[in-house]
Amino acid sequence: MTKFLVDYYDLPFLAKNEWGEETHPDWFNWRCEVLLTRNREAIEGKNILDLGSHVGGLMYGCLKLGARHVTGVEGTGRIRLADYYLSQLGYGPQHYTLVQDDVYNHLHRTQPGDYDTVLCCGFLYHTARQLELFKEFQRIAPKHLVIDTIVWHTLTERRSWSTWFKDFLAWRRPAEPPALLFKPERNIIEEKAIGPLGLIAVPTSKWVEWMFERHGFKYRQLLWDKKVIKHVPIQALLGGYLSGRRVSYLAWRSEA
Ligand SMILES: C[S@@+](CC[C@H](N)C(=O)[O-])C[C@H]1O[C@@H](n2cnc3c(N)ncnc32)[C@H](O)[C@@H]1O
Repeated sequence: MTKFLVDYYDLPFLAKNEWGEETHPDWFNWRCEVLLTRNREAIEGKNILDLGSHVGGLMYGCLKLGARHVTGVEGTGRIRLADYYLSQLGYGPQHYTLVQDDVYNHLHRTQPGDYDTVLCCGFLYHTARQLELFKEFQRIAPKHLVIDTIVWHTLTERRSWSTWFKDFLAWRRPAEPPALLFKPERNIIEEKAIGPLGLIAVPTSKWVEWMFERHGFKYRQLLWDKKVIKHVPIQALLGGYLSGRRVSYLAWRSEA
């Protein structure tokens, strides 16, 4: 069994959500391990901004790993649960700030250098404003960015038969275009904080990588221990990381 530095077993973040589903501890255990624990240089002693902070699960991970301060921005009333859970676990205003607002409003108020690290986990596919988001990342210039997102990975470029054949002989995978796939969002209405268009856009991983490059960030994809997580119970919902439907990155400013 994997030993986690931050173990969410029995913590309040796993409580039933609005659809009556409980979160499996390994959802947080593994995500905290790969996104935060293995990137301690971006967390320990840092001032962190968590976009779409939900009920504070990743904020807790950061605090456990020694973050100096974490600000969570969340559009919905889940922010009250985050406050309740974090305070129950012994954290206070010296450790965290919670802001109930649209992520973009908060980013527009943010000054360059306000945060060392920005977490953008489970958020990119909740918006149709990816370009604006990356422009803001470039402007506020955090040293590190952690991105974890669902991607479209079945989009492939149209190819002629001859290109297809050459790729086949060279055993090359078809190129994935940088693209956003727009679709209606179903659950954005709560407390009217999120996306008035009712539209979201799911990126391809190539799009995310292009956005890093064009906005002054270097990056690496975070590796999931696929041989291990394939044995994690299906309820932990980690399957997306196995199939490639979900990807994660650590990015840092090119000049940093
Ligand atoms: C899928 S959850 C991700 C939670 C957490 N970051 C994680 O990775 O475990 C996305 C959260 O972002 C919030 N959200 C989506 N769009 C938002 C917006 N424009 N402004 C503020 N919060 C938003 C949702 O309400 C939801 O709580």
